[in-house]
Amino acid sequence: MKKVYVKSYGCQMNVYDAERMTDVLAPEGYVQTQVPEEADLVVLNTCHIREKAAEKVYSELGRVRRMKEARTLEGHETKVVVAGCVAQAEGAEILKRAHVVDAVVGPQSYQRLPEILRAAKARRVVDTEFPVEDKFDELPALDAKRVRGRGVTAFLTVQEGCDKFCAFCVVPYTRGAEVSRPVAKVLAEARTLAAAGVREITVIGQNVNAYHGEGPDGRTWGLARLLHVLAEIEGVERLRYTTSHPRDMDDALVAAHRDLPALMPYLHLPVQAGSDRVLAAMNRKHTADEYRRIVERVRAARPDIALSSDFIVGFPGETDAEFEDTMRLVADVGFASAFSFKYSPRPGTPAAEEAEQVAEAVKVERLARLQALLEEQRQAFNRETVGRTVDVLLEKPGRHPGQLAGKSPYLQAVVIEDATGAVGDIVAARIVRAGSNSLFAETNASAATPSVSSNVSAGEPALAVE
Ligand code: 5AD
Ligand code: SF4
Repeated sequence: MKKVYVKSYGCQMNVYDAERMTDVLAPEGYVQTQVPEEADLVVLNTCHIREKAAEKVYSELGRVRRMKEARTLEGHETKVVVAGCVAQAEGAEILKRAHVVDAVVGPQSYQRLPEILRAAKARRVVDTEFPVEDKFDELPALDAKRVRGRGVTAFLTVQEGCDKFCAFCVVPYTRGAEVSRPVAKVLAEARTLAAAGVREITVIGQNVNAYHGEGPDGRTWGLARLLHVLAEIEGVERLRYTTSHPRDMDDALVAAHRDLPALMPYLHLPVQAGSDRVLAAMNRKHTADEYRRIVERVRAARPDIALSSDFIVGFPGETDAEFEDTMRLVADVGFASAFSFKYSPRPGTPAAEEAEQVAEAVKVERLARLQALLEEQRQAFNRETVGRTVDVLLEKPGRHPGQLAGKSPYLQAVVIEDATGAVGDIVAARIVRAGSNSLFAETNASAATPSVSSNVSAGEPALAVE
């Protein structure tokens, strides 16, 4: 029996890919370990989205090298693989910079890990091909036995790659063109997940709301239609999707937020900036007001929806006034959560070539102001839930005995102090206190307390739906 240690950086798709890599390696006799020192194979599943993320791999490789040396002294061999988006973007460069690395494997090639490892016995390997065949066709079918124990929530990749080419973003280069998996494949995977005890599925894609998979009827299905059939799978109580582009927020998807009780009232919809000039320079192909109108449509469909977004400050040429447009947009919309970043020039992207880069100190100051406002909004949103009863999917034991931790429909972390249910249950819990990162709740809530799930039809038990 050999042991593999996989460390993932970056987005949810890497989390999904990391699990699939261990699935591919299982028939080769590899079992997963959380202890890198005992691993015969170390896989770093990397992220290239910002410079900081990409550099992390090299500091980690330094640690891996020392570990490998220690293991060699003890007579153990260790193979080291760099996978993910840095692998795709830098390829053979990684072999030059880090001698400890045995193989470099791109996100579209990891289904070939067994043969890559065999080849790596004799020579160092780089496989960053975008194969003609579909990676997903070559991956082993998801196995319920392997899924069990990974938890009651799961990611399911339905779409990969991006054709949008935002001027700052490496994704179209590292993950390639947009590809949607056929509906039947997605459903088969979802059924396996549900049968293995998964209660909440987050369908993921770099541009998930641009999903256009082949349906069983031979027609192209959009994301809304896919969500409707996923909701019918027994055991699937909750659905989420991420990450979306404003331009692909079509009427059917907006309506799904009204009509589909399993679809959680949470939407991550990156806007990046609030200035029309900056948005155009970013090649986002929508204005700030168009974004505001999308939010209005979504809120009309699901008034309690929690909105989340991504922001970039200090995009090349961004003026003080343009940054204020971003602050105004945030103030207008009101976000329950958000991710915000300083612009980071990425090799090969158009924005990195712009002469007018914003000074680091200016970026730092803008980010601090933006984050202060977003944090205020997040805390306000959390405070608003105090006193209300929400459905909580119990995911794991809490830190203290008797506690169980889970998520509210709005993706808030909730700790239940007097939990009576079991992991996998959805319980109605009254939020009693908002901490800085979690909400605290009790389940002996009075039945008279209304649930905040506004689209729960009257008379339905709050537990069965969300
Ligand atoms: N610099 C800073 N942030 C970036 N993002 C993507 N590319 C860059 C970059 N070059 C952010 C965007 C995107 C999120 C995943 O990462 O906000 O939505
Ligand atoms: Fe990157 Fe834009 Fe595609 Fe999102 S939509 S992955 S930000 S290019």
